[in-house]
Amino acid sequence: MSDMAVTRELFDEVMVPNYAPAQSIPVRGLGARVWDQQGKEFIDFAGGIAVNCLGHCHPALVSALKEQGEKLWHLSNVWTNEPALRLGKKLVDATFAERVYFCNSGAEANEAALKLARRYAIEHFNAEKTQIIAFNQGFHGRTFFTVTVGGQAAYSDGFGPKPADVDHVPYNDLEALKAIMSERTCAVVMEPLQGEGGIISPDPEFVKAVRALCDEHKALLVFDEVQTGVGRTGALYAYMDTGVTPDILTSAKALGGGFPIGAMLTRADIAASLKPGTHGSTYGGNPLACAVAEAAFDTVNTPEVLAGVKEREGWYRQELEKINAKYGCFSEVRGKGLLLGCVMNEQFAGRAKDFLQASSEEGLMVLIAGANVVRFAPSLVITKEEVLEGLARFERAVARVVNG
Ligand SMILES: Cc1ncc(COP(=O)(O)O)c(C=O)c1O
Repeated sequence: MSDMAVTRELFDEVMVPNYAPAQSIPVRGLGARVWDQQGKEFIDFAGGIAVNCLGHCHPALVSALKEQGEKLWHLSNVWTNEPALRLGKKLVDATFAERVYFCNSGAEANEAALKLARRYAIEHFNAEKTQIIAFNQGFHGRTFFTVTVGGQAAYSDGFGPKPADVDHVPYNDLEALKAIMSERTCAVVMEPLQGEGGIISPDPEFVKAVRALCDEHKALLVFDEVQTGVGRTGALYAYMDTGVTPDILTSAKALGGGFPIGAMLTRADIAASLKPGTHGSTYGGNPLACAVAEAAFDTVNTPEVLAGVKEREGWYRQELEKINAKYGCFSEVRGKGLLLGCVMNEQFAGRAKDFLQASSEEGLMVLIAGANVVRFAPSLVITKEEVLEGLARFERAVARVVNG
């Protein structure tokens, strides 16, 4: 190990300035706790933006990483490997899907889904069936195709010509969707609960109607479950609670519990359009990533852990209600499972960042989702003691903001 002094200033000296990280540099984590270089302790309600589904350094993941790390790290897709096939089989057995494609991130999983949807429509219908419809405020990643499909033009503006034939309508607005859909629509892409867009749940009837419209127009329904997947909402995948089955589903974030991996899941008849040579990734299906993801999947996909997510949601809601009764700063607490958002009321409109900053000072990591929502996406196995301690810190942060 080098004895180089690592300070926050070094970030500004050597890193591309597309991020503005916090001043403190975390160096160690265990369960739902993290410590920085100075030994300051944080309770982690952010989970690496809904990634660390089993907290930090969960023994099952550490053990899988060590075991695979001494066996085989990487091969490329010229060969297949055991961890990838085992994880693929488990995903197929547990979901609607019959085929799996592995990659390294949520954006890559969505990029694969979008390319597959286009290719499938062109192969099975005609070259004009290319329209992709997505929703305002949706988020699907930062590659040029996925960021264009995302519902905030500001993220895709300024990079020259965008991938064409991508349209957006308001989430939960069935009439707007109906008006724009036609035989030319090849796919509708949606999050079954908008994460980055502000923790917004769809109307259950809306989800069913989107499915019906897709069937009517022979368009594929793509569920982006990058943020909602792998237990986050209390189901293995959020679609399982909607009564609707998508044609393609994308997963990443919690799938690897902190090790980068993404996956696109679909039916065999749709998957057939990605023949050898049509798409790929050097690292996709990497044995280390798949071994860790398999351990994460085995740990999360149990009735105890999934039921535990709903139980933990209750702890959060109960305590947050008490905090709000005292300080009156949120108009509602929304979301599902352990993807929760405290929405600023009128008095605190646009000030979610102040709550994040005050939380950090109190030793609590939280997220925001837009300017108006403080978001929690903690470990799915966070203990009651950690939840209560974290929320006590949150209350102190709220008091600071409210009392100026
Ligand atoms: C719903 C959704 N899709 C896609 C992505 C992009 O994932 P990644 O950053 O791994 O590319 C995100 C990231 O926040 C997301 O929330």
